[in-house]
Amino acid sequence: MPETAECARRGKGDAESNLSAVVTSRMLFDGLELTTGVADLGDADPAWAGIYSPRYSDATVARYIHGQFLEDAGVYLARYQATPYWMSLLTEAQQHFSLVEREGPLRILDLGSGGGNTVVPLLDLYPDAELVASDLSLPLLKALRATLAERYPKRRVPVLQQNAERLLFAPRQFHLVVGGAILHHLRSPARTIAESARILRPGGVAIFFEPFASGNRLVAAVFQALLDLDGGRAPRRSGALPRELRSFLAAASRLPAASQRLSPELARTLDGFCRDISVRSNMNWLTVRLRRRDDKWLFDREFFAAAARRVGFCEPAIFGLTNRPKRFAEHIRAIVRLALGPNEGAFPPWAAEIIDAIDECLTPETRRETLIEAGVVLVKS
Ligand SMILES: C[S@@+](CC[C@H](N)C(=O)[O-])C[C@H]1O[C@@H](n2cnc3c(N)ncnc32)[C@H](O)[C@@H]1O
Repeated sequence: MPETAECARRGKGDAESNLSAVVTSRMLFDGLELTTGVADLGDADPAWAGIYSPRYSDATVARYIHGQFLEDAGVYLARYQATPYWMSLLTEAQQHFSLVEREGPLRILDLGSGGGNTVVPLLDLYPDAELVASDLSLPLLKALRATLAERYPKRRVPVLQQNAERLLFAPRQFHLVVGGAILHHLRSPARTIAESARILRPGGVAIFFEPFASGNRLVAAVFQALLDLDGGRAPRRSGALPRELRSFLAAASRLPAASQRLSPELARTLDGFCRDISVRSNMNWLTVRLRRRDDKWLFDREFFAAAARRVGFCEPAIFGLTNRPKRFAEHIRAIVRLALGPNEGAFPPWAAEIIDAIDECLTPETRRETLIEAGVVLVKS
């Protein structure tokens, strides 16, 4: 059995139904209060030393996360390590909040820490903070623990198995909660926002980085146009697109006939992205298909404004993550690179020409408002 598959099967009790079976260790840091006991999994097996857990059952874990973060965690980690990028995002987020005066150490909870893309920069940005890293995936926590031991041998960074939809902490424990690309994986992102409000002190800050619907729909429309042109058809009309993009795509259909087709694997990737965006655009939570997916949601400003209002956060500050001049072209190439590997020649010249022209054809206002990914800063009132 591969190690990650074995890791995925750890944990015999069920934190959400059988808490009394759990060994109690209430303090991760002095004075930090949990609402339930957690055990160091190393007590049962030294291979897991340093991972705290209330011992979720396999069934509980499987209700929330799937293969990508469990048995395929190794593939996921190899693909998505990007701490310098996340450092730049967190630094940009810092411009949108200031932390309240406090006595004692700054307390940070990182949600859905995965391999540590946000944990590592947070440790560097806040060298004196008490930071708890958390995730539901044991294979990812194990990899994270190894990274932390290697990079920060002298710093105590507890690693906690925790469901982000039911946080294990007592109210008003933290000054900062950070979730990098986690909400769109959750069954109920609104619940995690409410849980974050609960465990933050007044004036505390929650920061999330998430995919947004408007920009992803625009990218999907461009992909659909490329697929149409590849099949010798004019791009379909989509009333939901900005006018300038509609006229741009109509003009693209008058380009000299494509002499090179999209490769079958590229066409499959573009088509898969369009389908994915279409399913996620219909956010119906009861949809079984949606519940089984890892990537579930796409957000908009209204979602965060309403979720924040309900639980006592101030009006959110929402900022686009890629203000670079070629942000759509770069994002499109990143999607294809992640799917197909670093294959520079994936787009034939006629398609590359269209992609490179998208950013110029959009008005500055559309570029500002059409969010592909955004940072969301919520301050607890
Ligand atoms: C896209 S990854 C992001 C990881 C990391 N924050 C980063 O930026 O690279 C999403 C993470 O959320 C975790 N996750 C998904 N659902 C969760 C849940 N209900 N509770 C805790 N973690 C969860 C996954 O295991 C995964 O590590």
